[in-house]
Amino acid sequence: MQPTSSTLNAHGEIYLMKEALLSSNTVVQPYSPNEVFSCPEESQFYSQCLERMVLNHCTRFDSVVEFGAGDGSPVINCLLKIKFKGFVQGYELNSAACEIGSSRIEQYRLNHQYTIHNKCFFKNFSSNANYLIANPPYLPAPDDELYMPSLHGGADGASITKQLLSLDCENVLLMISAYSNPVETIDYAIAQDYQVIDFLISPLKFGYYSCEPKVRQTIAKLQKNRQAFYSQNIYFLAGVLFKKKNSSNTDLSSELLKVMTAL
Ligand SMILES: C[S@@+](CC[C@H](N)C(=O)[O-])C[C@H]1O[C@@H](n2cnc3c(N)ncnc32)[C@H](O)[C@@H]1O
Repeated sequence: MQPTSSTLNAHGEIYLMKEALLSSNTVVQPYSPNEVFSCPEESQFYSQCLERMVLNHCTRFDSVVEFGAGDGSPVINCLLKIKFKGFVQGYELNSAACEIGSSRIEQYRLNHQYTIHNKCFFKNFSSNANYLIANPPYLPAPDDELYMPSLHGGADGASITKQLLSLDCENVLLMISAYSNPVETIDYAIAQDYQVIDFLISPLKFGYYSCEPKVRQTIAKLQKNRQAFYSQNIYFLAGVLFKKKNSSNTDLSSELLKVMTAL
């Protein structure tokens, strides 16, 4: 997780530039990466995964829910590129991120396709949704005293991911990091009756959030137990589309794990 496109102002505030995601009329906000999640490379990859594996295939009958919308840029970026007929209900705990997202939705006139509620996803999840999408918190650490506590994914980084896989949604698109116990995560998904039906993988450099010493130390311990896979320079992040088991689909979980555990 690396905020690549940011500049420091005279007061030491970091201006988050999401020009890679939203090229025209870019909104520049004076929020530090400790207040609002900022990793343009990761958000852009999540957006590509959404476009290719979910939003391009939705009909007007599909209902999509998003856990942790952040500033909304991944979904907005996608909606500006494709002909999407459904509706995305986003949930975001962070009120500053939610405010930025809502004003961008307004600015791009996307109110008929996307909304972000400033509420906890788990308290508001409706089982009517047939797609659940998320780039969930996946930082492994013993506790949530981190630069951004809401990015804590439990001791091995996989606990929120597993919670999302236990909601019984028919289709689930999740970003899964190779340093957050990917083998047990995929085993857990299979035990919940899911198959991996598609995935995309990107190498990412360790950045601001994942380089926090407490996180790096936890990742190093996980690696010794074969629960984290990475090299000195990079780790793999996968966008994975899970679908409830169905004999007409091919399960790609072993292929996914071969790549995720390669480093
Ligand atoms: C890794 S960030 C992803 C943000 C955005 N989707 C992106 O990819 O740019 C995860 C987001 O989940 C939010 N979050 C954490 N727990 C949440 C919860 N229970 N309900 C809603 N949002 C939550 C965090 O505040 C954070 O903005």
